[in-house]
Amino acid sequence: MEIGSCNFMAALRLLLCCFCWQLGAAVDTITSSQYIKDPEDVVSAGNKFKLGFFSPGNSTNRYVGIWYNNISVTTPVWIANRNKPLNDSSGIMTISEDGNLIVLDGRKEILWSSNVSNGVSNSSAQLTDDGNVILRGGEIGNSLWQSFQEPSDTFMPKMRLTANRRTGKKTQITSWKSPSDPSVGSFSSGIEPSSIPEVFVWNDSRPFWRSGPWNGQAFIGIPEMNSVYLNGYNLVQDGDGNFSLSVGLATESYITNFALSYDGRFGEMYWDSANGIKELAKDRPAVSTITSMLNSEIVDLPPPKKPAFVERQSSVDTESITQNQKINSINNVTISDLNGR
Ligand SMILES: *[C@@H]1O[C@H](CO)[C@@H](O)[C@H](O)[C@H]1NC(C)=O
Ligand SMILES: *[C@@H]1O[C@H](CO)[C@@H](O)[C@H](O)[C@H]1NC(C)=O
Ligand SMILES: *[C@@H]1O[C@H](CO)[C@@H](O)[C@H](O)[C@H]1NC(C)=O
Ligand SMILES: *[C@@H]1O[C@H](CO)[C@@H](O)[C@H](O)[C@H]1NC(C)=O
Ligand SMILES: *[C@@H]1O[C@H](CO)[C@@H](O)[C@H](O)[C@H]1NC(C)=O
Ligand SMILES: *[C@@H]1O[C@H](CO)[C@@H](O)[C@H](O)[C@H]1NC(C)=O
Ligand SMILES: *[C@@H]1O[C@H](CO)[C@@H](O)[C@H](O)[C@H]1NC(C)=O
Ligand SMILES: *[C@@H]1O[C@H](CO)[C@@H](O)[C@H](O)[C@H]1NC(C)=O
Repeated sequence: MEIGSCNFMAALRLLLCCFCWQLGAAVDTITSSQYIKDPEDVVSAGNKFKLGFFSPGNSTNRYVGIWYNNISVTTPVWIANRNKPLNDSSGIMTISEDGNLIVLDGRKEILWSSNVSNGVSNSSAQLTDDGNVILRGGEIGNSLWQSFQEPSDTFMPKMRLTANRRTGKKTQITSWKSPSDPSVGSFSSGIEPSSIPEVFVWNDSRPFWRSGPWNGQAFIGIPEMNSVYLNGYNLVQDGDGNFSLSVGLATESYITNFALSYDGRFGEMYWDSANGIKELAKDRPAVSTITSMLNSEIVDLPPPKKPAFVERQSSVDTESITQNQKINSINNVTISDLNGR
């Protein structure tokens, strides 16, 4: 009897242990009780991305960011407290009492906040396999905020760069100050919502580079449009003057994104296990070309190359397109409704 109950307790303990271990193994979520403290992290369900603390370049400052879990060089695609680093390892990322995702220092001072003051309690932040962290709250777990709506220097597949022609409101990427300082630098990149939309890089407010106009399938000045890694850009425009740009991954077996470097170069980055980091923006026009483009209305632009993905034209999901949305793309992607941010 005595021995029997002992075995039973041992078995129960083992069971509980396994249960706890399984819970522990699946942590992709931050809550007020399940927070991360430097150097802890969370990993997305499919192991693709990690959210945690890091120091960029030669800096000893600590930042909370998201990077690819399986690239050995930490390559942050998003940073929370980029303008307010920690100078020690006392940092915590957690959910505040009012339901925001926050970064705190050791003195409980808020260095960064998702800053959506909805006052929702019981919210949680989940890192997805797209490299997005989504804050959800309320009884049905509505999305309150996501890192994709507040990008750093990286434009990722499934992210949207947006611009509204009437309001001028934009979601854009901003460069780091230097390779060791991710605070907001002088370069930014996003959509210039003119009648023929283009991607611009600005140095402060001055145009520094532009993609060439959108020809319905591609920006004619971006040679990476023919990338084998991407199945093309998709630019959607609605009646309210909203433009939304996204890129699709041709295959899950590549890691690729677009980044704006600290010195204003915008280009596609991809990684392969053999050669490490590659940058493909070699055909970027010289500054003199840009200046002449900007100074004249009529420019001889090179004839657009045939985009690699044009053959894949077909089943754009017309069901999900609202009447006042116009498709400017013919590649095979599903277009979802634009959400004003
Ligand atoms: C770090 O410092 C070394 C030596 O000063 C320098 O060569 C290197 O470029 C620096 N790295 C970065 C990312 O600034
Ligand atoms: C670290 O930062 C805090 C403010 O966040 C400041 O009070 C402190 O002096 C700094 N420590 C060092 C060693 O720079
Ligand atoms: C939160 O948003 C308000 C208004 O937009 C702004 O004034 C404030 O500085 C923000 N706070 C943080 C911590 O970002
Ligand atoms: C808080 O969230 C958890 C899981 O998301 C849910 O099970 C629980 O019922 C929620 N509690 C309240 C008070 O909403
Ligand atoms: C960006 O603009 C600043 C002045 O605001 C200038 O000093 C700097 O040289 C410019 N950068 C480039 C790469 O042209
Ligand atoms: C990282 O994972 C992706 C799949 O998610 C894979 O295609 C890629 O080869 C991996 N990269 C490295 C450097 O292992
Ligand atoms: C186009 O997308 C649909 C729906 O996602 C998919 O079923 C189909 O295989 C795709 N076609 C091509 C040629 O990629
Ligand atoms: C267009 O943008 C405006 C302002 O940003 C927003 O209020 C509106 O909901 C957007 N329309 C759509 C269809 O997303």
